[in-house]
Amino acid sequence: MLFIFFLLLIIASEWVFLISIWDYSNSYFDLFGFLHLSVMISSIGLFIWGFRNVRLRNNYRLGFSIFGLFIALSIPTLFFLIPGLLSLVTKIEFLRTIGFVFASLNFLAILHGIVRGRWNWKLRKIILDFNHLPASMDQKTFIQISDIHVGSFFNKTHKVKKAIELINKCEADYLVFTGDLVNNKASEFEGWEALFSQIKVKQGKYSILGNHDYGDYVHWEDSDEKTKNLHKLIATHKAIGWTPLLNEAVELQTGFWLLGVENWGSRRFKKNGKLQETLAQTTEGFKLLLSHDPSHFDAQVVHTDIDLTLSGHTHGMQFGIERFFLKWSPVSLVYPKWAGLYKVGTQYLYVNRGFGYLGFPGRVGIYPEITEITLRRKP
Ligand SMILES: [Fe+2]
Repeated sequence: MLFIFFLLLIIASEWVFLISIWDYSNSYFDLFGFLHLSVMISSIGLFIWGFRNVRLRNNYRLGFSIFGLFIALSIPTLFFLIPGLLSLVTKIEFLRTIGFVFASLNFLAILHGIVRGRWNWKLRKIILDFNHLPASMDQKTFIQISDIHVGSFFNKTHKVKKAIELINKCEADYLVFTGDLVNNKASEFEGWEALFSQIKVKQGKYSILGNHDYGDYVHWEDSDEKTKNLHKLIATHKAIGWTPLLNEAVELQTGFWLLGVENWGSRRFKKNGKLQETLAQTTEGFKLLLSHDPSHFDAQVVHTDIDLTLSGHTHGMQFGIERFFLKWSPVSLVYPKWAGLYKVGTQYLYVNRGFGYLGFPGRVGIYPEITEITLRRKP
């Protein structure tokens, strides 16, 4: 329903945009409008064709390029819609100019998001105080990374290396990864083992699975092949020194439990996470949960004694604004808790904006994130 509404909005925007361009009766503008329309139609056509073709669906480079092109052309026209429409109705030329300025600025922002934004890792630091944190964990730091989607990086090892160096500069005690190592297949990680093995922390590295790690969104010859893929992915976690927690709890220090559940998401998403079974492995103490999808927090976690939950999944939609007092992304319409720190009662949830990207090969306003969480014991 939301998709059809969005498509109708895009068609209406393109129509208003073209009428406004062609109204100038200038041959260059006429050509620009014609090219814009041609590329828009081609990108939509290629996208639909590619989506129905299994071989092309696995070709991320082509798929992302087409999607990037579509976004770079369609979103600026959306920004043009209101001033453009008002200009058509009122015949005020100035409104049309404002529309073109809005659209141009938006196009430049998208271009920046593709060229630089997706590689612009931000280190976000948070400090959390708890009454009952064991003294042995006071001032301990956790690096959280999430949603690597390594298949989207192609061969850009040198770009990702900068992020690994940023992690290592933190000299943290623990690393936690909150799911979506790959887009679809474990084979995407081949060639990346050496780089990700370079992540250094003092104590230990732990990980969970995200919805993309199960291979649910691609075609497999049979269920055996799909199961082998998941086993290979879990073996990859271990090979790079991560301990996967698949509905498991470990006591990192006496009275400090780290729990990791498999993916549990609302609506159509996989519900493999077994929170009660995982909690049953713990005793009294501080509880830190890794759960990929933040919707798990409101659905189940708030009914438990878990102190802090770390999630990812939303990517902040790779598009939005986080400036001054403004914080908004379209993904907030689907996930009310979509980025950053949230508190319900005494329980905290932190939603990481993601390390990589998927679909749109860029990040506009919502940059890739590495989180450093320092835990403190209240005096
Ligand atoms: Fe993801």
